[in-house]
Amino acid sequence: MSMTIITVEEPKQAAQHVMEILKEQQDKGKLNVLGLATGSTMIPIYETLVNSDLSFEKVTAFNLDEYVGLDDRNKNSYAFFMQAHLFSKKKFKHTYIPNGVAEKLEEECVLYEKLLSEFPLDVQLLGIGENGHIAFNEPGTSFDSVTHVETLTDSTLGANSTMFDNDEPIPATALTMGISSVLAAKKIILIALGERKRFALERLLEGTVTVDYPVTALMGHGDVTVITDIKNLAE
Ligand code: GLP
Repeated sequence: MSMTIITVEEPKQAAQHVMEILKEQQDKGKLNVLGLATGSTMIPIYETLVNSDLSFEKVTAFNLDEYVGLDDRNKNSYAFFMQAHLFSKKKFKHTYIPNGVAEKLEEECVLYEKLLSEFPLDVQLLGIGENGHIAFNEPGTSFDSVTHVETLTDSTLGANSTMFDNDEPIPATALTMGISSVLAAKKIILIALGERKRFALERLLEGTVTVDYPVTALMGHGDVTVITDIKNLAE
């Protein structure tokens, strides 16, 4: 395992680091396929990317996950989030997000995984759930998992409902890339901002690999950069 930890003072600095890493990868010709994440953590990151001179015109993007039942016109969908924060402002070659309103969800998962195998991820941006989930892989998910339908835990439903901006109830299920789909990325950048992520991040740094904390699967990856503003992390 090779893990680099970058400690920053504030979210904008984290965003700056992400931008610089992506630039470096692009200069090396290693940014053809980029994995993207959603959530509040990503908002300052995308803002910085939008205001940078980075071009994504030759980049194909894959998002990690999507709520079941929400389409791209629904303000709470990840498709809407990506459009609002990044895709409407930066041109990409192509963008893929799992289709949460697909008639046959299992088939959608198989299709998404097939696309991922055709376009291997060069870099994957990752956030982290308070319970240690990555993408929507909740505690207990097999590290061998590929794109699948996941039932969300109460912890995730509680944390993510704060991002829902109307009375619509948060869906109980989501489509998500699996842990092995995420680990297939050549390079992973995990961004953990704010004290509420301390517990989950410390589970990773502690080094015990367990399905109880999906983020610990990253221990099995050869190129992980963690960017965090959390100080005095216990290892
Ligand atoms: C959701 C996403 C995760 C993300 C997490 C963190 O659960 N599926 O990919 O890491 O939110 O969200 P936030 O950045 O809002 O804390």
